[in-house]
Amino acid sequence: MVSTAPSSDPFVVHAPGRVNLIGEHTDYVGGLVLPMAIDRGITLTASPATRSIKLTSDQVSRPVEIALPFDGPPADVEPDWGRFIAAVAAEMCSKNGFRGHLTSDIPAGSGLSSSAALLCAIALALGFDGTPLELAQVTQRAEYAATNVPTGIMDQLCIAAARPKCAALIDCDSHEIEHIAMPDDLEVVVQFVEHRVLAHSAYAQRVDECAQAEALIGPLRQATRDQAESIQNERIRQRARHVVTENLRVRQFVRALRRGTYPELGDLLREGHESLRVDYETSTARMDTAVAIFNDTPGVFGARMTGGGFGGCIVALCVPGTDVHGWKVRASAGASIRRIDQT
Ligand code: GLA
Repeated sequence: MVSTAPSSDPFVVHAPGRVNLIGEHTDYVGGLVLPMAIDRGITLTASPATRSIKLTSDQVSRPVEIALPFDGPPADVEPDWGRFIAAVAAEMCSKNGFRGHLTSDIPAGSGLSSSAALLCAIALALGFDGTPLELAQVTQRAEYAATNVPTGIMDQLCIAAARPKCAALIDCDSHEIEHIAMPDDLEVVVQFVEHRVLAHSAYAQRVDECAQAEALIGPLRQATRDQAESIQNERIRQRARHVVTENLRVRQFVRALRRGTYPELGDLLREGHESLRVDYETSTARMDTAVAIFNDTPGVFGARMTGGGFGGCIVALCVPGTDVHGWKVRASAGASIRRIDQT
């Protein structure tokens, strides 16, 4: 992340989307995740303005206008995309804002973290000055205030801290990040399968089910497979088994990435998908079909659903040039702001 002190110059902020390679639904229990920022994202071109934010977007027809300092509940703001803007301004106690325009090539509801990218872009535009972790924490709180969804920190921290050509191995308990080089001879393909539905209520339900598992066997990030299997309630046992095995898969995946054993990466993606489909129940019939098609295609090492689920995208690792339908994405830098010097 790059940030500069506020000035009166116009500026451009770019915040990437992210795709999670593996480590799904583990962040809110302090587990391991391996997302990477992608070369798709949100770009905001703006000029500083006193006591208000005025924003238009190429994605939505209704503009957002917010008087600062903002002191109402963000969840009441209309149009609804303004809730994210208001929530960041409220978290940062901003008195001065900007007037600007947003462009985006990550569709909302795709599971590529368009909301976390928007939140990070707005925070930088409002003059956020701190570490990537602090940016992630501010925007995570803002996301909760705007949506009431108790997300983990993966999306925001990846978008704040990512480095070009690397995936970010994040320990969501200590918040330590290890930047893992992504090899040039491994293509990452993302396919947008369907808009997310039911994400909100079901996501919060999964967070609650993990809390129930932790009340029985302690922190899931440290639990063993045997401990997960000892849970009597079948649904809670399934959820715990997913988290425990997914954490192991992240470690195995990083080892295989370093060794360059790509078929092993593919096996881990397939296992991860099965775990999300059967134990965590966050996949959909259409995502399962899309994953199966990828997995049957020569040149594809493996595929799985990615992100919160209940719709959204799948991710696949492929031999470069493999003939599949989707966006080839590259591991990219985190969010940044650039002042346009007018002198
Ligand atoms: C959403 C949340 C993240 C994470 C993923 C699932 O993207 O915002 O915090 O929990 O779902 O891995």
